[in-house]
Amino acid sequence: MILPSQRHLFSLPRELCYLNAAYMTPQPKAVEEAGLAATSRRARPWQLSEKDFFTDVERARELFARLIGAAPDDIAIIPAASYGIAVAARNLDIAPGQKIIVLHEQFPSHVYSWLRLAEERGAVVETVMPPASPGEGGWTEAVLAKIEEFGDAVAAVAIPNYHWANGAPVDLVRVGAAARAVGAALVLDTSQSMGAAPLDLAAVDPDYMVAAGYKWLFCPYGISFLYVAPRHQGGVPLEENWINRLGSGDFAGLVDYQPEYLPGARRFDMGARALFSGMPAAVAALQQLLDWGVENIAETLASHNRALAEIFAEAGYAVPEEDARGPHLMGVTAPGPLDAGFTARLKEKGVSVSIRGASIRVAPHLYNDQEDFARLKAALSG
Ligand SMILES: Cc1ncc(COP(=O)(O)O)c(C=O)c1O
Repeated sequence: MILPSQRHLFSLPRELCYLNAAYMTPQPKAVEEAGLAATSRRARPWQLSEKDFFTDVERARELFARLIGAAPDDIAIIPAASYGIAVAARNLDIAPGQKIIVLHEQFPSHVYSWLRLAEERGAVVETVMPPASPGEGGWTEAVLAKIEEFGDAVAAVAIPNYHWANGAPVDLVRVGAAARAVGAALVLDTSQSMGAAPLDLAAVDPDYMVAAGYKWLFCPYGISFLYVAPRHQGGVPLEENWINRLGSGDFAGLVDYQPEYLPGARRFDMGARALFSGMPAAVAALQQLLDWGVENIAETLASHNRALAEIFAEAGYAVPEEDARGPHLMGVTAPGPLDAGFTARLKEKGVSVSIRGASIRVAPHLYNDQEDFARLKAALSG
């Protein structure tokens, strides 16, 4: 279902056409209000209760689980995508000479941990180069070819479902099956799509999957999520925090050290995971996403991107075909070389986009409307 404009739920200035959700989404007013109220909890510690330490974080876990079609036990609360990738790297079984497959120009938070692991274990990070055409399964075929080339020497396929710079897709169902067939782990960074494009978790069956919270999930900066497949939930966390142990609700009893963790993926939760100065905003954001529905968001953003693609194409920009972009995210290419002032000049005309690599990254959301599209058209023509 195409959703009507939700701009009234946001504090966006009317004269701004914000196409930069992939950089950071503005939070809906209700999320901002929940966040402001949450901040003031910290000022009055005598009012803090069980809810602040335990209830809200479990609610966020449950809502995120529902959003992705997992069980709450499968979700860890983490601060950043890099943290979740580090958890995966810490627990990856990898022998000298084995390969970790990544995409060319993949986001650095999903590369550095692998480079370090490779260095420590004598393994190799193998980069899949961009296909001649990112459409018609271009990236997918390129990743599959890499898996086939190295066979059971592949320890991990560590990729996104849409390239962060331009939204070019990878078919994770096919890649997941190929990874499993050679005994490789599938480690996904879905920061640039979770909440905006559907993913069939059961069919993809990742081993680990991270999503940064502050983009398409509308969450506060510093609250992100890690899905850990049940088969890895006995793994080793990055840090050993008191609250992740069984019975941590009994503050007086914390002096009796507890060897057991809380159930499921909770052992991987970050320290200070309760984050009561922000968690209520995460709850409000995830609830809003569930109310809209990810399928509806994707359908609406795909329609926005069709309109935007037309405007860019008319102005002489090269626009990817629909099969080479996400429903929510696309990279367009300028007719000439892009100078450093391009985004600033566009912003002066009331349009916000980012440049990533060679792409002008276009990332609309439900607050965009016809007036925004007209503003873009005027900005590109003048
Ligand atoms: C694909 C992708 N992953 C992760 C992040 C954020 O990484 P982190 O949460 O480690 O700061 C970004 C930010 O642009 C991103 O584009």
